[in-house]
Amino acid sequence: MNFKGKDIISIRDFSKTEINFILKYAKKMIPYAKGEKTTDILHGKVLSSLFFEPSTRTRLSFESAMNRLNGKIIGFADPTATSQKKGESLADTIRMAEAYSDIIVMRHHLEGAARLAAEFSNVPVINAGDGAGRHPTQCFLDLFTILLEKKKIDGQNVILLGDLKYGRTVHSLAYALALYGAELTFVSPKNLQMPKEIVSECKELGANIQSTSKLDKAIRNADVLYVTRIQKERFPDAEEYNQVVGTYQINNELLNNVNENLIIMHPLPRVTEISPEVDQTDFAVYFKQAFNGVPIRMALLSLLTGETL
Ligand code: NCD
Repeated sequence: MNFKGKDIISIRDFSKTEINFILKYAKKMIPYAKGEKTTDILHGKVLSSLFFEPSTRTRLSFESAMNRLNGKIIGFADPTATSQKKGESLADTIRMAEAYSDIIVMRHHLEGAARLAAEFSNVPVINAGDGAGRHPTQCFLDLFTILLEKKKIDGQNVILLGDLKYGRTVHSLAYALALYGAELTFVSPKNLQMPKEIVSECKELGANIQSTSKLDKAIRNADVLYVTRIQKERFPDAEEYNQVVGTYQINNELLNNVNENLIIMHPLPRVTEISPEVDQTDFAVYFKQAFNGVPIRMALLSLLTGETL
C-alpha cells in the first residue's frame, strides 16, 4: 500500500483496509514514540506546522512525532505573528509553507480550509482540524486506542457523548466506527445532535444507531464511552452555550452500574464533563489515548513522505 504524497483531509478518503494497514504500522512506532528505540528515517525532512487555532495535544504530538523520526519542524502556533495579520491570503501562506517544507500540517477555524490548502500545495497537507468539520488524525488515534484497549474495533458498542453538532472529532469517528460495524449511540442535548447528513452516511454504511439525550440507560451496555467538550468557541450565542454547559458530568457514582470493561475516552481538553476522580479508575484511558497520537502521527508522517521503517 502506498501513501506517498497523499493528503489527509478526511477519514472518508480512506478505506477500512487502508485504515487497518495504518493502525498496524502505527503499532510498530510505539517503542520509537516512547524513546525506547531510535530511528532517523525522516532525517533531512521538514514539516510545516501551521496552527491558526489553539492546540496542545495535536500540535505537540505532531512535533514529538517529527522529532522522534529525526525530522525538523518550522511553523507557528499564533497566526497573529505571521503575515496573515497583514492580510495575506491562506493560499499564499500555503504556497510559502510548500516552498519551505516536505509536508504541511494545518489547523484552521474554517471548515474546508484544509481541502483548499491541499489544492494549493504539491506537498502533502494533513488536516489537524478544520472548524467544526473534520479531524482525521484524531480519528486514527481514537481507532488505535479502541484497538489497543479492546483488541478489536468491529462490533463495539460505542456511545458518542456531548457536543455532537460542533465536535469535529465525533464527525470523523462516527463515520469510521460505522465502517467497522460498531453499534452507535449518540447522546447529546437536543440542540447539539449529530448533523443529519452524518447520521444518514453512517446508516448507509449499515450502522445501527440510537439517538437520545439520556445517558443513564445507554451507558449500562456500552463498551466505549467517548466524551466530548461542549465547543464553546463555535457557539454563535453565549446564552445558548450557558444553557447546555454542564449537561453531562461523568463521575464515579454514574460508573457504579457499567460494564466492567468499559473504557472512557476523550479527545481532550476536558472542562467539566469528566470529574478528575474518574482519572484514577481503570475506565479512564484518555491520557493513554493522548499518547497514542504520537505513534499514529509518526506512522502518518512516515507513510506520506514514503520514508518507512
Ligand atoms: C479536539 C479538537 O481540537 O477538535 N482536541 C484535540 O484535537 N485533541 C477536541 C476539542 O477541542 O474539544
